[in-house]
Amino acid sequence: MSNPKVAVIGTGYVGSVTASCLALLGHQVCGFDSDATRADQLAAGQLPFYEPGLAELLRETLASGNLRFTDDPRQALEDVDVVFLCVGTPTGAGGNPDLAQLASAAWTLAPYLRDGTVVVNKSTVPVGSADWVRTLLEEALPRNAAPAFHVVSNPEFLREGSAIEDFLYPDRIVLGGDGDGVGPVAALYVPIVTQAFPRARTEVVPQLITTDLASAEMIKYAANAFLAMKISFANEVANLCELVGADARQVLPAIGADRRIGTAFLSAGVGWGGSCFGKDVTALIATGHDYGYSPDLLRASIEVNKLQRAVVIRKLQRELKILKGRRVAILGLSFKPGTDDLRDAPAIDVAHRLIAAGAVVSAYDPIVKQLPPDLAGVRIASDPYDAAHRANAVVLITEWPEFTGLEPARLAGAMSGDLLLDGRNVLPDAEFRAAGLRVLGVGW
Ligand code: UGA
Repeated sequence: MSNPKVAVIGTGYVGSVTASCLALLGHQVCGFDSDATRADQLAAGQLPFYEPGLAELLRETLASGNLRFTDDPRQALEDVDVVFLCVGTPTGAGGNPDLAQLASAAWTLAPYLRDGTVVVNKSTVPVGSADWVRTLLEEALPRNAAPAFHVVSNPEFLREGSAIEDFLYPDRIVLGGDGDGVGPVAALYVPIVTQAFPRARTEVVPQLITTDLASAEMIKYAANAFLAMKISFANEVANLCELVGADARQVLPAIGADRRIGTAFLSAGVGWGGSCFGKDVTALIATGHDYGYSPDLLRASIEVNKLQRAVVIRKLQRELKILKGRRVAILGLSFKPGTDDLRDAPAIDVAHRLIAAGAVVSAYDPIVKQLPPDLAGVRIASDPYDAAHRANAVVLITEWPEFTGLEPARLAGAMSGDLLLDGRNVLPDAEFRAAGLRVLGVGW
């Protein structure tokens, strides 16, 4: 298939990154979204969310002529060779993902299927869903049409905040399906696998892993579940460290120095958040239950994470005694640095708990400048020192790089109290202590 025509259905986070990166590799890509406003916005080079480097890449690939966006299915899907499904799969009833958007994408696509069309599912779906997508497409075809199309599963491993890096320089690309379907998709990824494109990095050696459909779908869930479990493990060890008088900042890197374990995702903090870990671990638990299996390790990973968010409140109560009427400043609101995403963000949880306890809350985040209506009582500050103004306690929740450059004396000077709680263990605590603050962290 020389110069294949590629379409991406769904231009949210995963879809817009996929479309822009494939266009950068030199492919002809059309992004389709049934939301005309979204399609127009992207066609004009505007992103409806924040992701470092993506707006620039979007404009570059639009200007190169390799990338287009439309809300017209015919323009996007007529004569298409490879179609990526990148629609949302939010948590639905009973913890299982809601597949309504996927069903709607299948109905849009069905009339355009031809012999050899490859449908690539990138949406995170329960194990077995690719077969379901095939059935949906077949059901949506006119009675006398029976094109020999292929369905391939290609899970995404994109972290918010570094999605372009993760797409272009991955550890592995997973393709599940039969050989005739996998071949054309693997061909699209050749520039990444061989690192032969304008921004290639010679030191990156991505693995191309081909599997059956169900295994590819399972890999996605199991990878996220392992990462969530690893962080929960680090937090549990940190809690034990506090009890016995050990220091998690020394213990965890030493555990991770064992190459079998590794230091990544082994930091103690206020717990994991975001739109993926909670959703995917919950979905994998639901899958287990569907088959009469109880995934206890996965359940514990979620439970430990819930408790971890309460650690902040417990520490503030222990130090300040009564939270009612106390001023508490939160530094960092997004679920992690490098994104404006507030979905399942630990800071939101902490803010709710503080407000419920009667505290007066201020917050500063480098990017998030607005909170949901139920947190309208939180004062959004213009900088960290403004947030700390007259605060009894300052709590760092999201480790934005700029917080490591905070001036201890200036922060201490802005506060009325002296408590600094570093919820991510990233601040140089001795310097803040020297400025007269009492510094607490997680796991020490
Ligand atoms: C995650 C996975 O890392 C991606 O591979 C996957 O593709 C994506 O989910 C998805 O399923 O779409 P993401 O949720 O964007 O990506 O963010 P991560 O960087 O994985 O961080 C998740 C949470 O873990 C954040 O709240 C972060 O603060 C927290 N975390 C991370 C810790 O609490 N401790 C750590 O040591 C590392």
